[in-house]
Amino acid sequence: MKKAEYSERGPVPQDVIDIVDMTLPPPSAGQVLIEVLAAPINPSDVLTLTGQYGLLPPLPAVGGNEGVGRVVELGADVDANLSGRTVLLPVGVGTWRTHVIADAKGLVVLPDGLDVQQLAMLSINPPTASLMLSDFVALQPGDWVIQNAANSAVGSYLIGLAKLRGLNCVNVVRRESAVEAVRAAGGDIVLVDGDKLAKRVAEATGSAEIKLGIDAVGGAATDNLARCLAAGATLVNYGAMSGEPCQISPASFVFRDITLRGFWLSQWFRTATPQRRAEIFGEIGKFIATGKLRASVQATFPLREIKQAVAAAAAGERDGKVLLLPNA
Ligand SMILES: NC(=O)c1ccc[n+]([C@@H]2O[C@H](COP(=O)([O-])OP(=O)(O)OC[C@H]3O[C@@H](n4cnc5c(N)ncnc54)[C@H](OP(=O)(O)O)[C@@H]3O)[C@@H](O)[C@H]2O)c1
Repeated sequence: MKKAEYSERGPVPQDVIDIVDMTLPPPSAGQVLIEVLAAPINPSDVLTLTGQYGLLPPLPAVGGNEGVGRVVELGADVDANLSGRTVLLPVGVGTWRTHVIADAKGLVVLPDGLDVQQLAMLSINPPTASLMLSDFVALQPGDWVIQNAANSAVGSYLIGLAKLRGLNCVNVVRRESAVEAVRAAGGDIVLVDGDKLAKRVAEATGSAEIKLGIDAVGGAATDNLARCLAAGATLVNYGAMSGEPCQISPASFVFRDITLRGFWLSQWFRTATPQRRAEIFGEIGKFIATGKLRASVQATFPLREIKQAVAAAAAGERDGKVLLLPNA
């Protein structure tokens, strides 16, 4: 049994993480042993290694925040039907490891026969896309939204959810080479960020009133989106891929009454009722199971190649997520 652990944080994320042997005791009463099947490396995982994320676990820590596994051993008093089932890994266990012991109660059991790589990415990015589309502006079918980093995993879920809700979505990427992938993911309007973005968006949409902007980049890209929005619209920032603070010019903020808000899924988890969580994950789970929502995977790595995997995930201009397959 092995885990990918770090004991310090530093500017080069792959330098601080390494594989460590571990032994786990047999599961106690009420517990199960889970073999980890797949776990993604998200930007937040990279920022946790570099020390730039909003929530940093005490050290030493095992990397990873989501994934799926298979129940391979049951402790006493556990329903025998759990044996062999695919489950979501519990939050906070550190998912970059070969095995996890978890309480059987509260495990989310997934249907058999689905794509485990897609299921491994279910817990963070799909609800983020869903909640940003529903919790800030009361959008109706036919309304317009605009997002940047549209070739990201969140971006592709947002494209899928917008379509399912009858919304129109303008998709902005930072490079020409990402345009085709966003079109293939269902993006009808795809533009490259930069000079005169608002003018190009107006031309592409017939000067549509865009009520919601969704920004993962920060810096000048935030203002580029703000200039595309209708007066009185809301701009939601949920990431800082540029590493820079959000900029908004007074022309947008003051003269056109644009509201800038922030979204953090961790904060939503703290306040969401069990019923609301069940609604969100029920909808997302159904769409992922039926292939209506998906994200591209660029590469998979065995756990022993954790350094190469983290370096690949930290690099820009990827064609999709980097996933660890710890027991492949
Ligand atoms: N607030 C929340 O609760 C929450 C939840 C989930 C995710 N997030 C955030 O959402 C963002 C997207 O996550 P993800 O997992 O969907 O990402 P991802 O699939 O790993 O894609 C990363 C995206 O960031 C872009 N990017 C990378 N470096 C950039 C730079 N220097 N300037 C501008 N764009 C850059 C990439 O464009 P290229 O392909 O051109 O490099 C790509 O579009 C991240 O910032 C993540 O932390 C936030």
